[in-house]
Amino acid sequence: TTLSNNAVTARAHTNIALVKYWGKKDENLIIPYTGSLSLTLDYFYTDTQVAFDANLTTDDVQIDGQPASAKTTARVSRFLDIVRQRSGITKSAAVRSTNHVPTAAGLASSASAFAALAAASSRAAGMNLSLTDLSRLARRGSGSACRSIFGGFAEWQPGTDDTNSYAIPIKSHGLADLRVIALTTVKGPKAISSRQGMRLSVTTSPYYPAWIQTAQADLVALKAALAAADFTAIGKISELNAMRMHALTLSADPDFTYFNGQTLTIIDLVKSLRHSGVECYYTIDAGPNVKVLCQSETTEKIVTTFSKVLGDENVIVTKPGPGVQYL
Ligand code: PMV
Repeated sequence: TTLSNNAVTARAHTNIALVKYWGKKDENLIIPYTGSLSLTLDYFYTDTQVAFDANLTTDDVQIDGQPASAKTTARVSRFLDIVRQRSGITKSAAVRSTNHVPTAAGLASSASAFAALAAASSRAAGMNLSLTDLSRLARRGSGSACRSIFGGFAEWQPGTDDTNSYAIPIKSHGLADLRVIALTTVKGPKAISSRQGMRLSVTTSPYYPAWIQTAQADLVALKAALAAADFTAIGKISELNAMRMHALTLSADPDFTYFNGQTLTIIDLVKSLRHSGVECYYTIDAGPNVKVLCQSETTEKIVTTFSKVLGDENVIVTKPGPGVQYL
């Protein structure tokens, strides 16, 4: 599926938020209520190739070798419209995207997808954006994508408008042995999209104002913990922040949850591992899968424990990963 000579290919990795983004102040520009902070992961990534082509009459989007659905194509086209508008290009584009995540693991991420698309499409359109401007652009596709422009830890500064809402890299020292173990659970009925879930939480959860307060405090505490390379503090803050985010789903009207039965089983197991002296913490995004934070020396023990419960194929060890790159 190699495209014409002026095609550009970019690779971006997924990220896991330790202090989460949950709620848009501006749904169109994707400006969040609060800042968030994530770790980019090495194992899961998306490669996306883009070529603007005068012979095309509409955008031609293929994902993992298959034509994208009408809904996905429309979302990609809306994103490409921003790139066309800024670059002055009027041509349609061919987009070929490959997700490097285990098939059916349910870990495919809009973050790596839109970060790769932002990088490939802007360069294919002749723009040479700074990392800050790439982050701003990726944000328009999916909020969390603005953090996947950077490797390691990245903080999305919420800002107030399109110009000042973007991620910045957070330097860290002494955290090279941090590991994130991705655990995949049985697939349930289709989850409520993050967009829909956020909207419900913002508009109906009586706890949303409290989230704004605590998320800001969590972010300050996490940055201090990262600066001190204090794994215990990083883990505690991340776990608590994840549960506070999920409390916004349980307290919405109508209530909803991203957890399934296995999610709760995994939470219990993480806690019992911790009580037995194996230090690890969990975090969960808008789906039933769980990510376990640990350090290299305890990884094997944790992998063994979860492989017995979930099967080897559902336990994947990841490390801090790099920022967006051109191939
Ligand atoms: O970027 P979105 O719209 O898919 O939202 C991501 C939301 C969470 O993954 C739950 C939290 C986060 O900060 O990544």
